[in-house]
Amino acid sequence: MYKAGIITLSDSGYQGLREDESGRIIKHLIQDQFEIVGQKILPDEAVKLKALLIEWCLTCDLILTTGGTGLGVRDITPEATLSVAEKEIPGISEGMRMLSIQKTPFAMLSRGVAVQRERTLIINLPGSPKGVTENLTYLLPILPHALDILTDRKTEH
Ligand code: MTE
Repeated sequence: MYKAGIITLSDSGYQGLREDESGRIIKHLIQDQFEIVGQKILPDEAVKLKALLIEWCLTCDLILTTGGTGLGVRDITPEATLSVAEKEIPGISEGMRMLSIQKTPFAMLSRGVAVQRERTLIINLPGSPKGVTENLTYLLPILPHALDILTDRKTEH
């Protein structure tokens, strides 16, 4: 089983003022297919997110983040993710956005990215429970193949 980490970016979640519903949904949706080796709530702070991404890339095949992708001044998830990235994978983020925009035009406001760092795939999901569910359900079927190639387990298409 591939190893996954889940990071929720939320100032209010970090302070215990809000339930981490999106983090729970991610766990629920992937737990049959992935071994979840870490789950954490962080405030919307780039330094903390970068440090955790770099650390978890040593053990995780997949890191899913939720939140901090919008236009708020404290929304730094895409920038922090890009700053630790080696390659961007625009097809994943664009695919999710195209799907989501069909359902709600507000999805245009999510700036989430998908990247590769070493042998790890990092994907930003929006913060809303609805957005997480829609995007992750769409994404899940392609993850095994993406990770097979990324981790060198399979080189044939
Ligand atoms: N994507 C989907 N599929 N469904 C949604 O309801 N909400 C959007 C968007 N993406 C939404 C979505 C809204 S309202 C915002 S502001 C952005 O995600 C950014 O959210 P975040 O800052 O919590 O990550």
